[in-house]
Amino acid sequence: MKIIQITDLHLGCDKNYSTFEVNTYQSARMIVNHIAESHKDLDALVISGDISDDATKESYSNLLDITDKIDTDIYLMPGNHDSIKEIKECASSNKVNSELYFTHGNWIYFMFNTKKDGSPNGFLKQNEIEIFRDMLSKNKDKYFMVFLHHHPVEIGSPTMDKMIIENANILLDLIQQNELIRGVSWGHIHNVFETDLNNAKLFSTPSTCYQSKPKSKTFIIDTGETPGYRVIYFSSNGNLETQIIRVS
Ligand SMILES: [Fe+2]
Repeated sequence: MKIIQITDLHLGCDKNYSTFEVNTYQSARMIVNHIAESHKDLDALVISGDISDDATKESYSNLLDITDKIDTDIYLMPGNHDSIKEIKECASSNKVNSELYFTHGNWIYFMFNTKKDGSPNGFLKQNEIEIFRDMLSKNKDKYFMVFLHHHPVEIGSPTMDKMIIENANILLDLIQQNELIRGVSWGHIHNVFETDLNNAKLFSTPSTCYQSKPKSKTFIIDTGETPGYRVIYFSSNGNLETQIIRVS
């Protein structure tokens, strides 16, 4: 199973919209075109939030326009900038989904909604935690991959770490207690961070638009880094391999 994760597209209602001197539509289109041309064997595309920058209907139409060349299933999840209502409408079209999880072979892919109303911070919802816990206890023969928008561990950037998933310890405890959770990946931080916990690899994926300097005290744009995406390979023995691909 081969999944590609893209994240933090920050699309506007206008295709000419730029933020931090990047045209987000053109940048996301460049990334998705690269994926469509380079990964004909792709099984799914996961888009881990901040799809939109302004939460408008038009920004999600721009997403559908950009992903038109992708033939596989696409899974959307919200970030702090997104409209959940618009994501659900967007996901009513062919091949685009916004379910909480999907199963393929002996892996379960679980996509939490970490958007906290009225706040840029992340938060895990009790009902989603309960569903995840239930799936863990009922599927001892499956491996688990978790996708999030916000980071569940501190990344060493004080400004960003204020927006961490406030109750991430619930997820971290589950990883400590359960050897079948093999991976956790997120977006939001616009750079690459990698660590591990028990049997799980924990990592972020770079944005399709502007990049930020890792481990900086305040939020600083990294003009020396290009947009990118993450490829993740899932083996039937529970092994997971991953790589970042940068595009310019
Ligand atoms: Fe975000």
